[in-house]
Amino acid sequence: MFETIVLFFMTGTGNSYQVAAWFAEKAAALGVEVQMQQIKRANLSLEPKRSTLCVFAFPTHGFTAPWLLLKQILCLPRGKGTAAAILPLRAGTRIKGISFPGMEGTAGYLAACLLLWKGYRVKGVLGIDMPSNWTAVHWGLSKENTEFIIAAAEPKVKHFANVILNRQVYFDGIVPFLIGLWLAPISVMYLLLGQLMLSKLFFASDKCISCRKCAKLCPKQAIIMAGSNRKRPYWTYSCDSCMACMNYCPYGAVEVSPIIGILFYFIGTIPISTYILSHFVPLPLSWLPISWSGIIQYIYILISVFLAYRLLHTALGWRFFSMFLSKLSHTRYFRRYHAPNINVKDFILSYEVAVDTKNELMYDNRNNK
Ligand SMILES: Cc1cc2nc3c(=O)[nH]c(=O)nc-3n(C[C@H](O)[C@H](O)[C@H](O)COP(=O)(O)O)c2cc1C
Repeated sequence: MFETIVLFFMTGTGNSYQVAAWFAEKAAALGVEVQMQQIKRANLSLEPKRSTLCVFAFPTHGFTAPWLLLKQILCLPRGKGTAAAILPLRAGTRIKGISFPGMEGTAGYLAACLLLWKGYRVKGVLGIDMPSNWTAVHWGLSKENTEFIIAAAEPKVKHFANVILNRQVYFDGIVPFLIGLWLAPISVMYLLLGQLMLSKLFFASDKCISCRKCAKLCPKQAIIMAGSNRKRPYWTYSCDSCMACMNYCPYGAVEVSPIIGILFYFIGTIPISTYILSHFVPLPLSWLPISWSGIIQYIYILISVFLAYRLLHTALGWRFFSMFLSKLSHTRYFRRYHAPNINVKDFILSYEVAVDTKNELMYDNRNNK
């Protein structure tokens, strides 16, 4: 039996925290010391020992593991044979009584490879379906469907925990991994560009009262409060699109706008870049994996979208404009989602930012019905 279990969890809407908590419950029942650590911007602390088991629970993003998790695994000390188990979460859904699994792709095994490379002994990988939290693209699941998916996930996690805690191995998800390898170009595009662009689709609607809860909650501290008169949230490129801000805002003020998306698409592809590329960039160099023009285009997109978002943020200071954009946003009409049995203060406690956890960050159930 292990002496200590360190549960690392990265979470946007509480699902991964819930999964880590189920694992912790099982370990505590066996009398093992359990530590919970949130994967956030600051480096994780770990003293590698053979008697320690590290467990990683995190959401899948773009058919792979989020940047934050990969970066934090790379920053861990050398494993020296410390055991590790990995739980990538997927977007489970249920439509008309039929359940559909999510797709973790390379998420679990990419994390496993990095851990092996760092000297950890990987004992298990298991993808877990929890209710999908991507409320930027679909409405949150109903209470009934949410409960159904969670009830199905709990015994799987506990069984996995039991096997791993008894020092056996449990590997699953080879088929999703192979599909993930096939989808790898999408994952790479997601990590290099998609995630950055998604961060710039967020805006605070006229319902925002500048309470800063979104900024305090953000695991990457990617939201800054900006503006000359009234400070409003501004999403920087370090946002991982984890959905915490959107789903925990008590006023339902965080929205995503397809109009901004279309605008940024045109800004990123307008003839200016074509002109720059055709007049000032030399012929592609064949020894490079990607052409110079690709790199210039990439930099151009990042800079132009950054500038356009700054302008947009200023314009959102006009109440009429933010109301107009919000009314045209599909997310204004979407139900939000967060793990129902988890209060944000359960995991926010580990933040450095001083947060009044007394009800202040309690989720308002209005949005979850
Ligand atoms: C930007 C984004 C991308 C996602 N990509 C995937 C995906 O590729 N495959 C999948 O199964 N789930 C995907 N999901 C769903 C989450 O992994 C899933 O809902 C998870 O349970 C969320 O956990 P959390 O509440 O701990 O953040 C995505 C969610 C978001 C917000």
